[in-house]
Amino acid sequence: MPNNRPIGVFDSGVGGLTILQEIEKQFPAEQLLYFADSAHCPYGARSPEQIRELSHAIVRFLVAREAKVVVVACNTASVASLAYLRANFAIPFVGIVPAVKPAAQTTHKKRIGVLATNATFQGAIFEDLIQKFANDVTVIRQVCPGWVEMVEDGRIDGVDVEESVKRYVTPLLESHVDAIVLGCTHYPFLRSTIERLVGSDISVIDPAAAVARQVGRILDTHGLRSSTAETRSVQFFTTGDSEALRRTVKKLTGRDLVDVEQVELDLPSLS
Ligand code: DGL
Repeated sequence: MPNNRPIGVFDSGVGGLTILQEIEKQFPAEQLLYFADSAHCPYGARSPEQIRELSHAIVRFLVAREAKVVVVACNTASVASLAYLRANFAIPFVGIVPAVKPAAQTTHKKRIGVLATNATFQGAIFEDLIQKFANDVTVIRQVCPGWVEMVEDGRIDGVDVEESVKRYVTPLLESHVDAIVLGCTHYPFLRSTIERLVGSDISVIDPAAAVARQVGRILDTHGLRSSTAETRSVQFFTTGDSEALRRTVKKLTGRDLVDVEQVELDLPSLS
């Protein structure tokens, strides 16, 4: 039985677009909802409790809009809240965690670097990933203050961006890694600057396509594929300013957002 309800995708801001674009590419028949929690971005400096409360309110919103599956298109939110969301909602979820496994399979030098937020590194899930998949690999953790804010402003090139990227990839170069994981969904927007600075001998790993493939497996397992022949629609929601979201998305992807709604979340203990 096909299911034409939408897939919900959320992030603290525009980072999840790197996942949304892959989902759009792989599943042209699916209707999509994209939720950018721009008013509470960045999540990386927040406590796990706050991130869980925000994620819970967003999922409630998406479920009220009939989401059949929710993709937590944010490493920080997945690490802090995926287990909690699965325990509290009946729909299936797809999360994203830093791609430690593919990096450990790629590295020849047995040295990998992970770029992610502080909250992602603090979660027990990150340590579990290393135990499970990279036990024999040296893992260099690097937080990148300011990158999420740059991407949220639509700044992905220029002298300041280059300087900031250089500051945080240099420790990885000095540690002689040969694979770098983009462990935050905002960072693929900086990929060309990162690649230019690290050179072609280092693999830069973005798991967006793998996450989208996992969405396909979940749709199949639960019999949730859409059969619609209608033109696809993507509805955007933001807790920030809808014009600011339009401007940023245009700068980052060249895309003109048609359907953007500004919304407020119900947050008992945060607001
Ligand atoms: N895009 C998010 C991630 O994948 C987090 C950015 C933030 O700090 O809000 O981790």
